[in-house]
Amino acid sequence: MAEVNTRGASIDMSGKVALVTGAASGIGKASALMFAQAGAQVLACDRNPEVSALAQEGRIEAFQMDAGAEADVIAALDRAEEVFGGIDVIFANAGITGGVRDASDHTPEIWAEVLRVNLIGPALLIQHGGPRIAARGGGAIIATASVAGMRANAGPVAYSASKAGVINLVQNAAYAMAGTGVRVNAICPGLVETEMTRPIYDYARATGAEGMLGARTPIQRGADPSEIASVALFLASPMASFVTGQAVPACGGLSASHPFGPRPDPAEAAKVIAEYRAKVGSGG
Ligand SMILES: NC(=O)c1ccc[n+]([C@@H]2O[C@H](COP(=O)([O-])OP(=O)(O)OC[C@H]3O[C@@H](n4cnc5c(N)ncnc54)[C@H](O)[C@@H]3O)[C@@H](O)[C@H]2O)c1
Repeated sequence: MAEVNTRGASIDMSGKVALVTGAASGIGKASALMFAQAGAQVLACDRNPEVSALAQEGRIEAFQMDAGAEADVIAALDRAEEVFGGIDVIFANAGITGGVRDASDHTPEIWAEVLRVNLIGPALLIQHGGPRIAARGGGAIIATASVAGMRANAGPVAYSASKAGVINLVQNAAYAMAGTGVRVNAICPGLVETEMTRPIYDYARATGAEGMLGARTPIQRGADPSEIASVALFLASPMASFVTGQAVPACGGLSASHPFGPRPDPAEAAKVIAEYRAKVGSGG
């Protein structure tokens, strides 16, 4: 198994049980390992059987399931209770892009599948998992949204709409669970290097444009999955006891700025402006 940077997690989650979906890869895998390092017992769920590689005796149990199917969601919650005696934290993280690019590529079937996995899946985990967490005295649910759900131009349209739905879902769920001790939040990652973004990274590396990947972010790079997992761990923990109903961006600052294009060298720009004004006779 590839090494995951667990960032020296110092939040104490001992005695807590967490269910993480999309745990075979990327953000979910880093989170399952980081939650376990912080002391939690983790049910690592994925439709990909490779999730079994995460299993650690008494610490991480792997569970193969479809995060968009109600029966599988209930089976996963049952399994966490059976193996670890309860459930305190849910990280509804599994997601897909739908493999499309332009609005014209989208079929109704692709729309349905993207919404099923990305939006209905987290909704089912909240619906069936929330009351179980509440019965234990409270805890946290986190869902992975995206900066693509905040505004346009960061992903395919069905994907982006599904993530906008996740942001609204956690806002509504936080109210629905008011007074139960269950907090519900979303994380909005920017660009993160995972299997989902592998083609973007491979293309950039192949064309020598890797430096451009973070060009529109103040932090000037994409994220390592552990940098999203650490936000999930914080939101899962009592350290975030006053945070609910929020969509927390972890995007290197991408969502904080308006888009900008390449800016000319100031001296070159001054020359071009002077020439233009001379030509149109404005005198400058
Ligand atoms: N990578 C990014 O730049 C980025 C940015 C914003 C949001 N996200 C979101 O982060 C989450 C995790 O994605 P990632 O980047 O780690 O990608 P990834 O492809 O590395 O991991 C996603 C995991 O989800 C699993 N999965 C997909 N559909 C499933 C289903 N129906 N049931 C169970 N498991 C399923 C996959 O098998 C995979 O292991 C997704 O919700 C994604 O939309 C990613």
